[in-house]
Amino acid sequence: MNLSYPNLRTRRNRTNDWTRKLVAENYLSVNDLIFPIFIIEGKNLKIEVESMPGTFRYSLDKLKDLSIEVSDLGIPLIALFPCIDSSLKSNDGKEALNEKGLIPRAIEIVKNSCPNLGLMTDVALDPYTIHGQDGIINNEGYVLNDKTVEILSKQALIQAKFGSDIIAPSDMMDGRIQAIRSILEKNNKKNTKIMAYTAKYASSFYGPFRDAVGSKMKKSNFNKKNYQMDPANSNEALTEARLDVSEGADMLLIKPGLPYLDIVHKIKEKYKMPTFAYQVSGEYSMLKAAAEKNWLSERECVLESLLCFKRAGCDGILSYFSKDVAEWLG
Ligand code: PBG
Repeated sequence: MNLSYPNLRTRRNRTNDWTRKLVAENYLSVNDLIFPIFIIEGKNLKIEVESMPGTFRYSLDKLKDLSIEVSDLGIPLIALFPCIDSSLKSNDGKEALNEKGLIPRAIEIVKNSCPNLGLMTDVALDPYTIHGQDGIINNEGYVLNDKTVEILSKQALIQAKFGSDIIAPSDMMDGRIQAIRSILEKNNKKNTKIMAYTAKYASSFYGPFRDAVGSKMKKSNFNKKNYQMDPANSNEALTEARLDVSEGADMLLIKPGLPYLDIVHKIKEKYKMPTFAYQVSGEYSMLKAAAEKNWLSERECVLESLLCFKRAGCDGILSYFSKDVAEWLG
């Protein structure tokens, strides 16, 4: 039989809601969501990030209730990002290694109040450095790889010791997955997982996040191009994935999200690893701004975007919309 019109009418399966459901190849569930949370010092604070309406920085005393709320919604994992006081920032970002710092205390709060909620912590120095780079810089402003990796491994170990379940290095230094895996092994942290920011691009879509953690630099030529990937490249992302897998990553992350779904697809196809994407701050703010103007329907567009991450090959998505989405999915 000739498999063309009218024998084949592709619209038949689209006729009813129930057929559409029956033949759907992908779906979004609350199990796919990771919720990023910004934390600050202080008491009873919930401060909206100006460039991210509906996203807040929470003081630590609010973290317990928030974790319980997120966990009750069924979201499996949260990701913590610190916004520290500028007086604690230094050239070498040494506050990242302070065991009494914001992150270790936050980890304890989450783990004590919600032992069954997964907790992921960010490994990078940008929230802690005066210059806003993710590592140690030389006089020319170049981020020194091996020196940075040494510090990041220590930062990762502290997070693991305090109870972080997933270490997420977002710095893009070479060799950091191997170094972190090895320090975790040596210290008997055998089940601490690593979600590698495998293909993290030097993207301008991170702008609102840098507002949120206070790492935004005034200099117009500020960028992270000597360590984050060039948006022009995709073969290189496969090399990054090969290295991360061989160095001991348990999960791979691609970032940003929507403009980089081709990268998600390639990495998933080739490595068959648990693969995630980060719908970053700029993507969030674009959708929010359009929704606020009534140019887009927020709920429909957010759900559609997240479903597209699944179709591309994501096992889960980091999204600032996660809490809303969990509520919408009911
Ligand atoms: C930094 C880091 C960034 C994001 C997560 N971790 C920004 C950057 O690399 O400058 C961006 C997340 C977002 O935009 O939502 N280590």
